[in-house]
Amino acid sequence: MVTAPPVLPADLNDGLKRLKMAAMRRLAPELLITAKTQRWSPEEFLRTLVEAEITARDASNTATRRRQAGFPLTKTLDEYDLTASSVPQATFDYLASLEWVRAVENVCLIGPAGTGKSHLLLALGSAAVDAGHKVRYLTAADLVDTLYRGLADNSVGRVIDTLLRNDLILVDELGFAPLDDTAAQLLFRFVAAAYERRSLGVSSHWPFEAWGRFLPEHTTAVSLLDRLLHHSNTVVTDGESYRMRQARQRGGTKINKT
Ligand SMILES: Nc1ncnc2c1ncn2[C@@H]1O[C@H](COP(=O)(O)OP(=O)(O)OP(=O)(O)O)[C@@H](O)[C@H]1O
Ligand SMILES: [Mg+2]
Repeated sequence: MVTAPPVLPADLNDGLKRLKMAAMRRLAPELLITAKTQRWSPEEFLRTLVEAEITARDASNTATRRRQAGFPLTKTLDEYDLTASSVPQATFDYLASLEWVRAVENVCLIGPAGTGKSHLLLALGSAAVDAGHKVRYLTAADLVDTLYRGLADNSVGRVIDTLLRNDLILVDELGFAPLDDTAAQLLFRFVAAAYERRSLGVSSHWPFEAWGRFLPEHTTAVSLLDRLLHHSNTVVTDGESYRMRQARQRGGTKINKT
């Protein structure tokens, strides 16, 4: 014999629907029966329902924040191999603690290609999302494009305000392409607006003394760096490219001489 699935009285079902208690509404019919048969106290019953709703909401909020962060890939701190990196354990632990996000500090990752800068930015961003922070990841090229579009319709201020609704803004690949004067000014405006208000995570190939290579105006470069570095954790990712190392291990970089 097939027993019919338990149903919730219509008024309760409608009430929970109106209050948008989706998890409670889904679980309540089954739980009513369990609570009766196992003689749960009223508190126990209510607590189980409330906890289920909170867990479901937290998961859905995290999923929304993750979507809004715009990560192009999923990278995790667990996957980051410290033994293959120049990042000291203590620095990694501090970054992983996300204390710097709460303290509104910045992180600047500086190092050559393939040394894990994007991996670290994405993994820290992902951990920050899990910890309840609002995060936005962009490449510097995307950021400049977005700001340029704002310039076209006179909404740069609004574009920056929207970005600064996040607790942490990650700007990857800064200086991969040189910026023109306007782009440099826009970038400065963004960094100045974020200064002491939001955490920035930045990655670049270029050591700070070489930022003049992609920021054409010297005073803009100095003023931007001054703000970026005031409360910043600078991390150098040095050494061999992890991509090259993996390619070599696979034997993929052999050049066949003819
Ligand atoms: N220490 C590491 N542990 C595990 N994976 C790593 C590590 N460093 C790099 N990788 C992996 O190697 C690849 C290249 O790393 P990543 O893209 O982060 O380099 P990058 O420093 O951002 O390079 P680029 O300057 O070219 O953008 C990625 O797949 C990344 O996950
Ligand atoms: Mg990268």
